[in-house]
Amino acid sequence: MISKKTSEKNLQLFTFPKDGKSSKNILDKGLLITFEGGEGSGKSTQCKRLVNKLVSEGVNSILVHEPGNTPMGEQVRKWIKSKSIKNPIAETYLFCAARAELCKAVIEPALDKGITVIVDRFIHSTIAYQGYGKGVPLDVIDQLNTITIKDLSPDLTILLDIDPDLSTQRINKNINIELSSLNNNKKKSKRENFEGNKYENMSMSFHHKVRNGYLEMANEQRSSWSIVGAHQSESRVADSIWKRVKRLIDTHKSN
Ligand code: TMP
Repeated sequence: MISKKTSEKNLQLFTFPKDGKSSKNILDKGLLITFEGGEGSGKSTQCKRLVNKLVSEGVNSILVHEPGNTPMGEQVRKWIKSKSIKNPIAETYLFCAARAELCKAVIEPALDKGITVIVDRFIHSTIAYQGYGKGVPLDVIDQLNTITIKDLSPDLTILLDIDPDLSTQRINKNINIELSSLNNNKKKSKRENFEGNKYENMSMSFHHKVRNGYLEMANEQRSSWSIVGAHQSESRVADSIWKRVKRLIDTHKSN
């Protein structure tokens, strides 16, 4: 059992936006908002924008990403980004283990304190990547997800949807920009570093399966999902996200 002191210490593993808490939290109960999407969909940028916007609007919020934000989660992240895992079910266990730890150490204590939690990837990543993408039976993942998160359930899931052909172009463009600003020696290690990111190097058919999986889930649960076209400009995407999140906040505002 994790003591209150430990969970408070873990909360400091990640950063509140620079200006810290807003002076008044307009929500009594924290909301759980998850972001999902394929590689190069701009999730991380939009997560940061949203958490800053929330704080400026008086909603105490934190941002976490999966896998990560606990000592164990960071190890899982390093592992899955650099090593090859032969069995997709082994990979599924790893993601679930990191998630279980994150829920217990960070997400639950934050929500209990009335802090809204933005999560960059959650249960639906496992369904999309390991399930639709790699063929782990969806009912097995559903069971594992249920055991992992217990009664936690996202209030809203934002899907940043983008055609993998377009996102691959984006990723390659970013790699080339970064590479051209480095000298030769560093170039090699930077390239190796990107090549170590094995998910971005999976086949296009894998990325299409992941995208279709996400769209299927979103279309089945329209009321708790929002699909945003990630091909649009960063600020347009941010505006669409904010409109949807604002509606959610308005229905939960304390009087
Ligand atoms: P990212 O944070 O840069 O998106 O990297 C995490 C990678 O791990 C990404 O390629 C998606 C993958 N992933 C899964 O395959 N299953 C999962 O359950 C999660 C959380 C991530």
